[in-house]
Amino acid sequence: MHPMLNIAVRAARSAGNVIARSFEQHDKLEVDAKGTNDLVTNIDRAAEQVIIDTIQKAYPDHVIVCEESGIIDGSDKDYQWIIDPLDGTTNFVKGIPHFAVSIALKVKGKLDQAVVFDPIRGELFTASRGKGAQLNGFRIRTSKAKELAGSVIATGFPFKHKQHTETYLQMFKTLFAKTADMRRAGSAALDLAYVAAGRLDGYFEIGLKPWDTAAGELILIEAGGMVTDFVGSHNYVQSGNIVAGNSHMLKNILKDIRPHLSDALSK
Ligand code: IPD
Ligand code: CA
Ligand code: CA
Repeated sequence: MHPMLNIAVRAARSAGNVIARSFEQHDKLEVDAKGTNDLVTNIDRAAEQVIIDTIQKAYPDHVIVCEESGIIDGSDKDYQWIIDPLDGTTNFVKGIPHFAVSIALKVKGKLDQAVVFDPIRGELFTASRGKGAQLNGFRIRTSKAKELAGSVIATGFPFKHKQHTETYLQMFKTLFAKTADMRRAGSAALDLAYVAAGRLDGYFEIGLKPWDTAAGELILIEAGGMVTDFVGSHNYVQSGNIVAGNSHMLKNILKDIRPHLSDALSK
């Protein structure tokens, strides 16, 4: 295993322990609202600190971009870690056991190493650039689905961006009519990892942040998948609007959401 992936895995497992332990002691949870429908808990912050400590111990000069603590500057700007300590906080707060730790490393602006760890199921999704993607050490690949018929597509509701509800529902309706079924499980990082593992045939969501998608994106690409924004371009890190799947499914989803795109979602 690449030494930097090794550190990412160590950090993700330590954070996962913090999260899984406190999931058992739900009554001690402290929940705050960061924004509209946007929750953070003391456990998000504790898990993030464990990850930061692990990375800084091994690589004190690297830059770290964290969801909760912001940017921690470092002298070696070629290395940038992107961290979501707890992806699926709403599930976590509600006692729904579906969430993950997400850690990615960019080297000179390119995704290089990635970990998505589900601490409840003990599922560790990993990828190193050019070396494929793994689930608990076994190679994973996207599904071979070619058509929406018979497929299961994941999505996220725009619960933090309700101004997009109408547009989103039009997209949902068009896709739902053609797919076998849809899922809204509540963790973007796991949605992407599940598409990578072939458990889901595709995925789309509005308004994500870089830490929601960075690790899942590399895992998906290394599993043979693709990621674009809603117009099939590569502006998703800025827009946060993401479509994912194998090349056939990506094309199918893009075709069906295109007629509904508002100006705001065409960027
Ligand atoms: C959220 C989850 C959710 C997605 C949201 C994200 P958080 O991340 O990934 O599935 O629908 O858009 O913000 O806030 O739990 O880290
Ligand atoms: Ca997240
Ligand atoms: Ca989070």
